[in-house]
Amino acid sequence: MNILILGSGGREHAITWKLAQSSRPLKLFAAPGNPGTATLAVNIPVDPLDFTGVRQAILANEIGMVVVGPEVPLAEGIADFIEDDPALAGVAVIGPRRAGAMLEGSKDFAKGFMKRHLIPTAAYETFTPETFDDAVKFMRKLKPPYVLKADGLAAGKGVLIINDFDEAVRELKEMLGGRFGTAGSRVVIEEYLNGIEMSAFVVTDGSSYRILPEAKDYKRIGEADTGKNTGGMGAVSPVPFATPEFLAKVEDRIIKPTVEGLKEEGIDYRGFIFFGLMNVNGDPFVIEYNARLGDPETEVILPRIGSDLYDLLEGVACRDLASRNTVILPETAVTVMIVSGGYPDSYGKGFPVSGTENVTGSTVFHAGTKTDNGRLVTSGGRVLAVTSLGKAMSDALSASYMSVREISFEGLYYRKDIGFDLKNYTE
Ligand code: AMP
Ligand code: GLY
Repeated sequence: MNILILGSGGREHAITWKLAQSSRPLKLFAAPGNPGTATLAVNIPVDPLDFTGVRQAILANEIGMVVVGPEVPLAEGIADFIEDDPALAGVAVIGPRRAGAMLEGSKDFAKGFMKRHLIPTAAYETFTPETFDDAVKFMRKLKPPYVLKADGLAAGKGVLIINDFDEAVRELKEMLGGRFGTAGSRVVIEEYLNGIEMSAFVVTDGSSYRILPEAKDYKRIGEADTGKNTGGMGAVSPVPFATPEFLAKVEDRIIKPTVEGLKEEGIDYRGFIFFGLMNVNGDPFVIEYNARLGDPETEVILPRIGSDLYDLLEGVACRDLASRNTVILPETAVTVMIVSGGYPDSYGKGFPVSGTENVTGSTVFHAGTKTDNGRLVTSGGRVLAVTSLGKAMSDALSASYMSVREISFEGLYYRKDIGFDLKNYTE
């Protein structure tokens, strides 16, 4: 089986890495991939949003399965494009069609879906520029902080949490006025949930599902969760406060009704679902859905799967996931993201990276690197994710931090406190 992985980040490197361990004879391709995937797969220089280019890559390489990493091609209908093309008949896509990707692509759709299926989430209403005055009235009824969410995809920047009422009204006006382009032409305003966040992941074939390891990521740039939001500065799996009792609530109240709800609504969802959750006094609430795996969560989830990932993906493609097994390893996996100085604001690119070859106790996933005249250089804000497994979280963290110290490039930065808030639960 020839498999094409779409995307170029740490998540896609981790997917390629895990599939490369399959006992099945797989030939892997990545588009566009990165220097990490290049060691395990053939990189094809095609942008996942260039659907015609993807089509040519599928035909030229006799691809039988396409695994879609990021959300934008899903929201733009890459699965529909491939599945509806008679010339690509038989090519399996791991990732939902546009209708399913709406769970991530439209906050209003996701909230409506949860309401219809009685899935616990924060109370909300959706507003447009025409209903601005109603939005202000609605906000007066809420307690601060105010949570404002642009309806559409906004690269993780579309959520504002504001304490001051007047400031929230000003921000709302700007959002509805086009600050996030069309993504903000509708704004969801919701109740603030007080709790601790974590994420759950499943893969589904549209009727059954398999639960993957849960994870917690660290979104802020600064230590102790301060400063700006990033794509993610590190992640930990398992999550110590996600007790079997809590995870059973997640499955009963959230996972099952989501998979069943999709089916009931005629949405044939084949792929990953990422549940962003808030644990509010032991009860799970959905903060957001994503129609894909997370980055850097994938870099800790997949190393904890002891069984063959291809077997699960084949179960999705053949719609017989119910007959496939997943083995989850008991070890803790952590990943520490090394970023370029200045990220998430402006940062330089092209800095030579050294030392990755000296890392022994960890796996280094490439997130924002490229090869320039045979040298590894930075090409993004998030550069490398350094993953380690350990019996305890502290062992895994020590291993990753030791590995991180082997690596250098100009302006390198990383958080030294990944897992800081979980220590009370574990030690
Ligand atoms: P989202 O893009 O929907 O994941 O939101 C980004 C972040 O905002 C989340 O990871 C949470 O930390 C926070 N957030 C979103 N919605 C809420 C809410 N209703 N209550 C508290 N925090 C929230
Ligand atoms: N790490 C968060 C995400 O992938 O959306």
